[in-house]
Amino acid sequence: MDGNGRWAELRGLPRSEGHKRGVERVSEITRAACGLGIKTLSLYAFSLENWNRPESEISVIMNLLETFLINDLDNFMKESIRFRMIGNRDKLSAHIRDLIEHVEKTTEANARLVVHCALSYGGRDEIIRAVRKLLQADTPIEEITEERLACLMDTAGAPDPDLIIRTSGEQRLSNFLLWQSAYSEFLFTSTLWPDFTREEFLEAIYQYQMRDRRFGKVKDGKIQCS
Ligand code: IPE
Ligand code: MG
Repeated sequence: MDGNGRWAELRGLPRSEGHKRGVERVSEITRAACGLGIKTLSLYAFSLENWNRPESEISVIMNLLETFLINDLDNFMKESIRFRMIGNRDKLSAHIRDLIEHVEKTTEANARLVVHCALSYGGRDEIIRAVRKLLQADTPIEEITEERLACLMDTAGAPDPDLIIRTSGEQRLSNFLLWQSAYSEFLFTSTLWPDFTREEFLEAIYQYQMRDRRFGKVKDGKIQCS
């Protein structure tokens, strides 16, 4: 969800206004995902690297997150949305961590849509934490498999993302779901996140549906080399 700051700066507004507008898009896109029957929606809200931003901006984002979690819990329950945080919890304040755990627990049994909120998240960090868990459990070398590692990632139990959309014109992954994105389709749009509407989301899904996913195989029906 990139481009909140630029959206605000373009309008001569403080960056916080862009983040506020960004939260509104989260609600809209989550509703749209529910309507489409999407089962998992992962939102990159705050990276581990984002901790290097000025204290004042971090506090705006954390306050918005808090308000979002408090305000949207009712809606999660009404729409049967399960909320799950992915990322490194150590750096979060105890208050935010407790609130996240509360929302995760309350929504645990909801099954219509799982929303992964990537917070204090870094793909490399997630892999390192998973490897540490393997070592802590004295896992025998021959039992170290892709499946086993996948079960130790923050996304354990969730399918790999089919489509990754990046807004704001940047064409990079920025440490997002490095392990899980091995065969994801990518879509880059120059739209800034606060302008990313339901219509553009639907268009992105439509584009995705026209992709030819082969997963390294040859296309069905193609003559095989003997
Ligand atoms: C995305 O918008 C939100 C967060 C990373 C928290 P940015 O804040 O990165 O916006 P730009 O990239 O500066 O426009
Ligand atoms: Mg950015």
